Amino acid sequence: MPPTSHPRLLAWIDEVTALTTPDRVVWCDGSEEEWRELTDALVESGSLVRLDPQKKPNSFWARTDPGDVARVEERTFICSADEADAGPTNNWMAPAEMKATMTELYRGCMRGRTMYVVPFCMGSLDAPRPMFGVELTDSPYVVASMRIMTRMGAAVLTAMGDDADFVPALHSVGAPLEPGQADVPWPCNETKYISHFPETREIWSFGSGYGGNSLLGKKCYALRIASVAARDEGWLAEHMLIMKLTSPEGQVRYVAGAFPSACGKTNLAMLEPTLPGWKVETIGDDIAWMRFGEDGRLWATNPEFGLFGVAPGTDFHTNPNAMRTLARGNSVFTNVALTDDGDIWWEGMGEPPAHLTDWKNQDWTPGSPTPSSHPNSRFCTPIEQCPILAEEYHDPRGVPIDAILFGGRRRTTVPLVTEARDWVHGVYLGATLSSETTAAAVGQVGVVRRDPMAMLPFIGYHAGDYFQHWIDMAKGASGDAAKLPKVFYVNWFRRGDDGRFLWPGFGENSRVLKWIVDRLDGKGDGVETPIGHVPTPEALDLTGLDLDEADVAAVLRVDRDEWLAEIPQVTEWFTKFGDKLPAVLWAELDALRARLADA
Ligand code: GTP
Ligand code: MN
Ligand code: MN
Repeated sequence: MPPTSHPRLLAWIDEVTALTTPDRVVWCDGSEEEWRELTDALVESGSLVRLDPQKKPNSFWARTDPGDVARVEERTFICSADEADAGPTNNWMAPAEMKATMTELYRGCMRGRTMYVVPFCMGSLDAPRPMFGVELTDSPYVVASMRIMTRMGAAVLTAMGDDADFVPALHSVGAPLEPGQADVPWPCNETKYISHFPETREIWSFGSGYGGNSLLGKKCYALRIASVAARDEGWLAEHMLIMKLTSPEGQVRYVAGAFPSACGKTNLAMLEPTLPGWKVETIGDDIAWMRFGEDGRLWATNPEFGLFGVAPGTDFHTNPNAMRTLARGNSVFTNVALTDDGDIWWEGMGEPPAHLTDWKNQDWTPGSPTPSSHPNSRFCTPIEQCPILAEEYHDPRGVPIDAILFGGRRRTTVPLVTEARDWVHGVYLGATLSSETTAAAVGQVGVVRRDPMAMLPFIGYHAGDYFQHWIDMAKGASGDAAKLPKVFYVNWFRRGDDGRFLWPGFGENSRVLKWIVDRLDGKGDGVETPIGHVPTPEALDLTGLDLDEADVAAVLRVDRDEWLAEIPQVTEWFTKFGDKLPAVLWAELDALRARLADA
């Protein structure tokens, strides 16, 4: 007997079962016992390796197929009824055509496997309108990961009752087993599709087990599908961290920040300030849902329940709070290296041990020519283990946002921090955000591309409409511009001529946060430049930091020629959107051009 009588859910499960023909169907309740059974079976089958409980209790090492290591943007589709609604930044296929294609891929695809039913909720179950989803998957790795990343199981099913709306999210690794056929540690398929049907709010994923492609509550639901719902209903679903910042005087500010994948959200969200007396607490590290309250302020919640963070580069110097979170165990590590004593290791974690098993299951020594961990290897860990989790994380109302940071990875041109003049200028900064590509998505690394609001891979509709939606959001403040978050643009990644980072970053970013808070308070010196307000070197609190004066000047520099070189790139970018590009953004570009000409 299924543990629900929800007619639409039951009908959908029947339909998928008939199509994919799993050997059995298991309803996930989210219990400890279920977790134990799942992880024991995954260890037994060789998909997971249990870490030494003394070092990482109840934690596991997973290795993917070497061809299934990141999000696949080329294989990600927005299947809106009308092609024009997907816009120039998404892949599109007609819904009927995609469904026909994928139905043939799904036919019999779960043969020899178990289909798990995973009821989940993005955000609090106590939200005024809980955002339900149900993922059907043939991957027990996905079930274990979903248990960490979302609120899932029996409580969700109960809350759904018989008639709650939910997002059906179908996932298969696409690797049926013939009778007697041995399984591989990481089943997947060379053919991959990550498809979204915005009008019917459905997700169909095939062929990949990697997090961003398979944990369908995250990027697929909480960003791509939610962004469409947000457009229709007047809110925002964004690729943003949320943090609580308390000054030495006890004044609290809430900051949200959008940086592209692998550009510093998780690190900033868990930052340990180097400035004495300042305190950071974490609310979210990847996704923010934001809506204006009746008070005219923009309130943000984190719909996730876990952290799915980039592993390499994480250590006690860069992100001590992530290390403390992981030390509590209950985590899955994917594509990192395994130490001989049953712990994990990755590049950036101090001195390498003399011997490791690398992410491809090969012997690794410090002399090996390749890194021990994949650059997009990840930890998956419960957010409630974070020692600096803010109590507001649990509040379904969320927190009122004082400042929004946009940021990217740029070696040149973009100064450490710039303050937008007003909301529309802030939207312009977001819409023109640029960053060098990283290993978080399959493709070339280090190429500068525009990544509007860090949402390029995640906007579920036409990006021109998305910009207009951002501009229109200001109405939520009921004409009181003072209630709108102030917008800042940051770049931790500017480099000197010798290639080294000009700014130490990580905990030292608290100095930039302090300037931002000063600006919110109407203090803090800034020079007005053609691109916005940039701090004077004196306005940045550099107490106790041993930085070259020339480096400080260089990291803050607004170089007219570098910015003039951006103009044709932004023009080309905006041209993509045709008459969908809000006229006020063209006006911002024209005004910037004019200011640069006068500078
Ligand atoms: P996703 O989880 O993929 O969305 O990425 P993210 O934005 O959370 O990125 P994350 O915080 O994991 O940072 C990824 C990379 O940026 C790591 O290699 C970090 O070491 C590096 N990084 C983060 N913050 C800083 C910083 O302030 N300075 C420098 N130089 N590197 C940083
Ligand atoms: Mn992300
Ligand atoms: Mn992250």
